[in-house]
Amino acid sequence: MNEKRKLVLVGTGFVGMSMAYSFLNTGGIDELVLIDVNHDKAVGEAMDLQHGLPYARGKMTIKAGGYEECKDASIVVITAGVTMKEGESRLDIAVKDTMILKSVTENIMKSGFDGIIVVASNPVDSMTYVAQKVSGLPKERVIGSGTILDTARLRYLMSEYLDVSSSNIHAYIMGEHGDSSFVPWTNAYVGCKNLLDILDEQGKDLSDLHEIYTQVQQAGYEIIKRKRSTYYGIGLSLNRLVHAILDDENVILTISAYQEGEYGQEGLYIGVPAIINRNGIREIVKLELNEVDQAKFDASCETLRSINTGTID
Ligand code: LAC
Repeated sequence: MNEKRKLVLVGTGFVGMSMAYSFLNTGGIDELVLIDVNHDKAVGEAMDLQHGLPYARGKMTIKAGGYEECKDASIVVITAGVTMKEGESRLDIAVKDTMILKSVTENIMKSGFDGIIVVASNPVDSMTYVAQKVSGLPKERVIGSGTILDTARLRYLMSEYLDVSSSNIHAYIMGEHGDSSFVPWTNAYVGCKNLLDILDEQGKDLSDLHEIYTQVQQAGYEIIKRKRSTYYGIGLSLNRLVHAILDDENVILTISAYQEGEYGQEGLYIGVPAIINRNGIREIVKLELNEVDQAKFDASCETLRSINTGTID
């Protein structure tokens, strides 16, 4: 991967710009280039961020540009796409976003880009599949945001429920970034203690866990109902993923990864825990799922396979 910490963002909507803005606060990249079909918007966003630099932690160059800027980029993050409207599911926007992802990915590859693509456009699992197919990059170098945000939502809610730091909540959301996701609760730990043992000791009701999962599953819709779209959570999740790559962290994150049989499924992208480093996805972490959770994983794969994304050939 290119040594320069250059990040190109395609799509200067709320999601992309929330990620971009977060880097002024966390630092971690040297150069940020904004690309948008509305170039003037990208210029305006770049100017707005530049004016914050004197007070920002992150010292970096920021500009609007064209796809030629991808050539020497380490990472290209794609957030371009239509946004879900109230009452729509992420699956409803698949055909429109497929066309956008195909065009964007073709333009990225024309530059000679040879780094890592991160996709956040929804439905993210299908859109990541499109980006990998169109780019022809190795599968480990095309990563979807997947359930990285869902897992953050789960850990936040579990942290509140147990009054324990979210950094000690080791629980994952797996599957589609959408309604068919699930939590393999038997694989969940608080520190080094199994979560179910803790609930048993505390006399807590397992139905609380179902309620917590429902809040995670519905979070996107609940936010959209109130403020028309979600962006801070996914923006920070993308920042986390970019840092894991650029800092060669070998950290486990739940992202959308291409399946080659690790969980008995293959030929699609879906949310699983994976070790992330400078080369992208080092490996998928294989949990021992019980029968119920394996069935949920299989059902989620079928949901994704049923999405009509139109043709990408
Ligand atoms: C959400 C969007 C990012 O879940 O799908 O908020």
